[in-house]
Amino acid sequence: MPESNKPGAPPDEGGPVRRIQSRFKALFQDEPLLVRSPGRVNLIGEHTDYNEGFVLPAAVDKSIIFAVAPRKGSVGTVHAFDLGQSHEFEVSQPVRSDKSWPNYLMGVVDQLGKAGAKIGGFACVFGGDIPIGSGMSSSAAIEAGLAFALNRIFGLGLDPLALVKLAQKAENEFVGVRCGIMDQFINIFGRPESVLKLDCRSLDYQYFPFERSDLRIVLCDTLVKRELAASEYNVRRGQCEAGVKLLSKHVPGLRSLRDVPLELLESHRSEFDPVIYKRCDYVVRENSRVEAACSDLKKSDFIAFGRRMNGSHAGLRDDYQVSCRELDALVDAAGEVPGVLGARMMGAGFGGCTINLVEETAVGALKERAVRSYKDIFGREPKIYISSLRSGTDIIKFEWEEESCSQR
Ligand code: GLA
Repeated sequence: MPESNKPGAPPDEGGPVRRIQSRFKALFQDEPLLVRSPGRVNLIGEHTDYNEGFVLPAAVDKSIIFAVAPRKGSVGTVHAFDLGQSHEFEVSQPVRSDKSWPNYLMGVVDQLGKAGAKIGGFACVFGGDIPIGSGMSSSAAIEAGLAFALNRIFGLGLDPLALVKLAQKAENEFVGVRCGIMDQFINIFGRPESVLKLDCRSLDYQYFPFERSDLRIVLCDTLVKRELAASEYNVRRGQCEAGVKLLSKHVPGLRSLRDVPLELLESHRSEFDPVIYKRCDYVVRENSRVEAACSDLKKSDFIAFGRRMNGSHAGLRDDYQVSCRELDALVDAAGEVPGVLGARMMGAGFGGCTINLVEETAVGALKERAVRSYKDIFGREPKIYISSLRSGTDIIKFEWEEESCSQR
């Protein structure tokens, strides 16, 4: 394991941070605020957040770095380091762009305006190593990271929860994906070496320590981009709402699938369209799995925890139907490796990564098996990442960066 991936070691930010900072200085001749905004994993609780249910995510070491400073005037200039592209817009009137990436940033500025926050012109360079479309939520990292940075440079005084909600609304309204709150929440509230159980209705949350020397979180990336994800995501939301509508005829005031016990759902099965039924059945069971998985964590029963991850994948594949052949192949391959405690697809689905809970001693065997099986079936290799759990979005401290660079 590289030094920088060891639990507790400072993240490997020296290189990327310096590159983003230098590009900023070259383009804008100014000293920027530097912010690190992480990607996320989700151990269990998929497609439950927009049903007001439970999730168990964590912020990870892959991240987007922002360099941001105010500028005279009213123009926002955003520069995507990795694409080498810039985009300019009036901060008082961001207009949706045909290029997709500026919309994640302008959506934030749009929401700040709607919230009555006064911001002036600014410049921003951003870039990082969260693989796009991998299900690690690079979009939330961009939205929440910029919201955090603008809050600082303009002294807006927004609290962390306000930033979360604003970033989520940016995606809902400007980007047009009706995502839940999980990704933006963990982006801001993540803690090192911990997973966070979030009640997506009350927004109550609880941290569970999740750093053990004998276990690793391994992601296997199909490298399949999730083209279907955005449209099918909104379809799934609609199907869940249809289920709630049907049941609310029997339970007046019913708000979401979160409030539906399995027995209630089963007792009305004959009234359901079979597809809608399967969607609802998955969500109700997944919510129970998250609660049970948290009890497993309290007992440090990682064997039981892993089985629930497997159950989650089966539901996502067969009932919620958001998996794909590539994800299923990687989950199947993991299931054949002794020491892999659990494996499932992660995030919205239709591509991206699987998440695997693996005994340290089995990591090599998992890598070897996943690469071989995937290559045999699809003729190309998946990417494998070992994740360590890090803090949520924060300012990058200079002392730290210099210290870490001098160690190289
Ligand atoms: C995406 C969304 C989240 C969540 C997951 C599925 O990552 O942004 O809100 O719904 O999909 O669990």
